[in-house]
Amino acid sequence: MRPVLCARLYPHVALEADAAGQVAARLNDHWLSIGGFGAGIAERLHDLRVGVPLAALTSGRNSKGLGPLAMRLARHGLMEFALKAPGDGEDLVIIEPQTADYWPAAAALEDADILVLSRFAYMRRRGSEMVLESPRARALFRLCDPQIAAAIAALSTPRSVRRLRRDGSGASPLLGLLADCQIVFKVDVANDIGLRQVEGDESLVFWDFHDLLFHARSTEGRQANPLGGVYPHLGFAAAPPAVRPAWPGKKIGLRAGAAADGHEELLPLAKLLRERVSTRAFDAAAPITIAELARFLENTARVLSKETVDSDGGPAFEYTARPYPSAGASYELELYLAVDKCDGLARGFYHYDAGQHALVPLGVGTAEVRALLTGSQFAMDAPAVPQISIIIAARFGRVSWKYSALAYALILKDVGVLTQTFYLMATQMGLGGCAIGTVDIDLFAKITGIEFHIEGPVGQFALGRPSQWPPGAT
Ligand SMILES: Cc1cc2nc3c(=O)[nH]c(=O)nc-3n(C[C@H](O)[C@H](O)[C@H](O)COP(=O)(O)O)c2cc1C
Repeated sequence: MRPVLCARLYPHVALEADAAGQVAARLNDHWLSIGGFGAGIAERLHDLRVGVPLAALTSGRNSKGLGPLAMRLARHGLMEFALKAPGDGEDLVIIEPQTADYWPAAAALEDADILVLSRFAYMRRRGSEMVLESPRARALFRLCDPQIAAAIAALSTPRSVRRLRRDGSGASPLLGLLADCQIVFKVDVANDIGLRQVEGDESLVFWDFHDLLFHARSTEGRQANPLGGVYPHLGFAAAPPAVRPAWPGKKIGLRAGAAADGHEELLPLAKLLRERVSTRAFDAAAPITIAELARFLENTARVLSKETVDSDGGPAFEYTARPYPSAGASYELELYLAVDKCDGLARGFYHYDAGQHALVPLGVGTAEVRALLTGSQFAMDAPAVPQISIIIAARFGRVSWKYSALAYALILKDVGVLTQTFYLMATQMGLGGCAIGTVDIDLFAKITGIEFHIEGPVGQFALGRPSQWPPGAT
């Protein structure tokens, strides 16, 4: 007998159905309407609490009621999947989806296939459980049986599926699911160019383990952890103070020094820095114009010149100069614009071609543009969507081709530099802007068709004409 894969509700979710078959889910005192699934569904809800074999969900009487309900619940992040031992039905492994579109599927494996663990896979203690994760995976695996953990650890050396199946390895029923999640992958033993080189596509090789993990776990879209300002330590630890307590000892006051310098008046840049504020509400009646947008982009992000040079005795490399500084002159950041209202420019999604100083429409549907803009609105807790949301994406390989270990950190620092450049230019031009700390990397990948590890969002900036001037006035 083989282990059985079941779908079941997360323990913290409750379901109710009315006589007409309308189902609602309760999660942390919030009710969520799930939809209509036919009269009689109420009697079947308990099955989802206990767990229903996946195969049974898509067949027979379940194909119209319970099956579609389970899939809808999974899209809302309310379902987990358990691989249960034959006989006693004990949980061997529990699969927690990390993306809304995850549904367990086993990759086809032949006996002759050779499998090895991904260099991005890792096991760690979470609470009192052992979890197996990877930033490439659309699901996390909770390992309930230490023998399975040991069998997976042994896959750091390539092994044949035949051998894994013959040894009765605890991991064997899981292999197809792990391969589907890119936690293990097939290798060609005849190929000896190195496991790093043969995993994934030619862009994945650039990524260090910690960088890809940091990227996937510090953005939205590819993880199911609580994200954002949820005050996770409230009640356990006091907030660190706004200003660092002073070091003991004699202080050297600096006020007298500034006066002695003869510069008591504010410098123009100092004035601009003090005028700068975050603007979250925009003037719907007088949107930003395309001429203003063009000027803003030209003065902040346009390529000013291009040359190929040998830097530090390294290989010849093509460099550009732009108005803001960039680590190693990499200039890996690309600007994508989700436009709601801009006088002279149609609503849509555009790439800013910084070399040609031009906008290229990407032909993205209105629903996707709305999803991007409402994501920005939500992150700013704003009354309406911004006139423009500038998505700052990175061509990751441009930095990691050169820099080992610190590539992703450099990219985020570049985002900070560009963000302040945007803030200051918006202030100077009488426009308003606001940095946005979150971004959905999976949504961007779906919209552009570019895999998340090749080019993807690392920052966002809302831009438009402020609904009041000066924007910070109350
Ligand atoms: C990296 C970064 C991320 C930010 N993310 C958000 C955000 O997601 N939502 C938001 O409303 N403001 C965001 N802000 C704006 C800050 O809340 C704002 O800068 C801060 O409150 C100081 O106010 P001021 O910019 O008006 O001086 C962000 C700012 C920075 C620099």
